[in-house]
Amino acid sequence: MEREQSQEAVFKIILGRRSIRKYENKIPEKEKILKILEAGIWAPSGLNNQPWRFVIVWSKEIKEKLAELTKYHEIVKNAPVLIGVFLNKDAMYHQIKDHQSAGACIQNMLLAAYALGLGTCWLGEILKNESKVKEVLGLPQEKYEMCALIAIGYPKDQRERSERYTLKHFLIKEV
Ligand SMILES: Cc1cc2nc3c(=O)[nH]c(=O)nc-3n(C[C@H](O)[C@H](O)[C@H](O)COP(=O)(O)O)c2cc1C
Repeated sequence: MEREQSQEAVFKIILGRRSIRKYENKIPEKEKILKILEAGIWAPSGLNNQPWRFVIVWSKEIKEKLAELTKYHEIVKNAPVLIGVFLNKDAMYHQIKDHQSAGACIQNMLLAAYALGLGTCWLGEILKNESKVKEVLGLPQEKYEMCALIAIGYPKDQRERSERYTLKHFLIKEV
């Protein structure tokens, strides 16, 4: 793709992505989910330590159990697929940097999903029940730190809106 065209495509995807909280009753293709994970693992990480680990949840029963652990139960219960994102503590080397890497990985996944026609919602509120989530997913408590749950599905409501302050609000100074 010409550089100019791909520049436009990247901006379209970054600006067009919205958190989607309602999904069509259609299971996304496994191929697409694997592509999303592939986008995640190409995120940068400190020392290239790639500390992220994933759990893909297709099971209705598990989704229902996870839904009980968050006030966003409707999103979790109805999401056609969930991806749990964790840090492998054995792979970690620096708290802040490893969390930043996980954030980059998650954002890559959200953007890739949007490019593939899927809607996502980054769910953090459920972290208050991290140890119960690990119990439900059958993960060893000590080995993994939970970062987020990502809900994924074909978007039902395409009219999601969001706002940002203007750049002026964020710019401390130019020197
Ligand atoms: C760290 C983090 C945690 C979030 N947790 C939740 C959540 O628990 N439930 C939810 O509905 N949205 C959650 N969101 C999504 C935000 O509400 C959303 O990104 C924000 O309102 C901006 O909207 P946009 O994603 O459509 O641009 C979370 C986003 C981030 C980055």
